[in-house]
Amino acid sequence: MGLTRLCQGFLLIVLALGCSDGVEQGEAGQEDPVVQGRKLFITTGCNVCHGNEGRGDGPVARNLKPKPRDFADLAGYKRGPGLTQIEETIEKGLNSSGGIMPAFPNLKPEDRRLLALFVQSLQPK
Ligand code: HEC
Repeated sequence: MGLTRLCQGFLLIVLALGCSDGVEQGEAGQEDPVVQGRKLFITTGCNVCHGNEGRGDGPVARNLKPKPRDFADLAGYKRGPGLTQIEETIEKGLNSSGGIMPAFPNLKPEDRRLLALFVQSLQPK
């Protein structure tokens, strides 16, 4: 294999790396906030009740009363579907549900923001 071919191969790899960069990553090399929020939704255990896609169909959902609703259904929100309203729901829980929607006061505010952004990404545009 000649030196030119080697160089061409190397160039291709550099190009491929260069192009894939920025697809999943944001400005500061950070992952997309919605992708981060989705991960937190699983690692925090929200999905156990709400389901991985927030449709209200997690493994324990059918035993809950009231049941979690589909996040895509804007009319189903009791506190409200806005970003700060969702952050407040996560921080304080929902009293009306008799404590079934737990409060997460120990989450960092920036994590509550990421979770709320993920929930909003499931709402109709
Ligand atoms: C133990 C089950 C459970 C877990 C865990 C849980 N939720 Fe909920 N959540 C509920 C239930 C049940 C409701 C509906 C409450 C009601 O109707 O009063 C709800 C409601 C909500 C709502 C709608 C608020 C509104 O305005 O009506 C949001 C947003 C929400 N949860 C986000 C989350 C997030 C984010 C997490 C993880 C940090 C989480 N939940 C963890 C059970 C859970």
